[in-house]
Amino acid sequence: MTSALDKLDQLEAKAPAKLADCETVEQLEQFRIEYLGRNGKLREILSSIGSVPAEKRPEVGKRANILKNRLESSFKEKQADVDSADKADSQDKMIDVTLPGRQSPSGSKHPINLVMERIVEIFSQMGFDTVRGPEVETDYYNFEALNIPPGHPARDMHDTFYLEDGRLLRTHTSPVQIHVMEAEQPPLQIIAPGRVFRRDADVTHSPVFHQVEGLWIDQKVSFADLKGTLELFVRRFFGAETKLRFRPSYFPFTEPSAEIDIAFDHGDGEWLEILGAGMVDPEVFRAVGYDPEEWQGFAFGMGVERMAMLKYGIDNLQLFYENDLRFLRQF
Ligand code: DAH
Repeated sequence: MTSALDKLDQLEAKAPAKLADCETVEQLEQFRIEYLGRNGKLREILSSIGSVPAEKRPEVGKRANILKNRLESSFKEKQADVDSADKADSQDKMIDVTLPGRQSPSGSKHPINLVMERIVEIFSQMGFDTVRGPEVETDYYNFEALNIPPGHPARDMHDTFYLEDGRLLRTHTSPVQIHVMEAEQPPLQIIAPGRVFRRDADVTHSPVFHQVEGLWIDQKVSFADLKGTLELFVRRFFGAETKLRFRPSYFPFTEPSAEIDIAFDHGDGEWLEILGAGMVDPEVFRAVGYDPEEWQGFAFGMGVERMAMLKYGIDNLQLFYENDLRFLRQF
């Protein structure tokens, strides 16, 4: 049987290292029971001290007590270490349900799209269908069928981009009128929003801009209907107090033709041009095979950028194309 002295030797050699290895609360408790507890190894030595030869007893008693004190104080230190590590660990794993969620910034529609959608919405509430036409056109659709033959002075105003094959980028949305009339029989009531192109670039002109075209054809559509339709549109788009005036003008594809100006009630009395319009010219009806004696109608066209500038009080066209988020976020 191992003597108490041998056991003490072993304990002194092993116990401190064993304690140092403890990493968890459970391991520490295990150590406490095994070495420092009521039935632990130290207690065992002290209670068997009677079996130690008398001359060795004081030495064994002293050493056992020193070891006991040493282990107890290192145990306390170790316990404090393990406790705080344990706490930090569980804090790491904790989810703070009061933290705000991650925000993903949402975009917004471009003001030109917003205005175009609003224009289309107002007209569709009046019964107009929305159609779209090609951006690459032939001379026939962009000019000739609209009563603008070669050499006609109106062509100069259009600053056309030509493709190598002789086709061109449409300079206005009016050619959509021709496509629709060729494909369908009257009566018809359409609106055609889209991009148009002109070789023009300065502070007030962009080579790419947007128009909305309108066309209403039936057996008895008069200039009074044109007036009523555009008046209703303008009041809904700009506000009920907006003033409106029709000024005689010229377009090859309408006869008579008018330009429509508006003035804001709160403005300085200045008239601002917003629309071109008129009764469809009989020449245009002939080009698409409609009988001008049977059908009549009106057409109109407006620039979307211009409508947006007037609606929002923007005085610089470039802002629409720079994509500066500080500008775009305001819509
Ligand atoms: N197409 C013309 C332009 O770009 C605008 C226009 C004027 C369209 C009169 C029309 C209209 O339909 O009747 O300047």
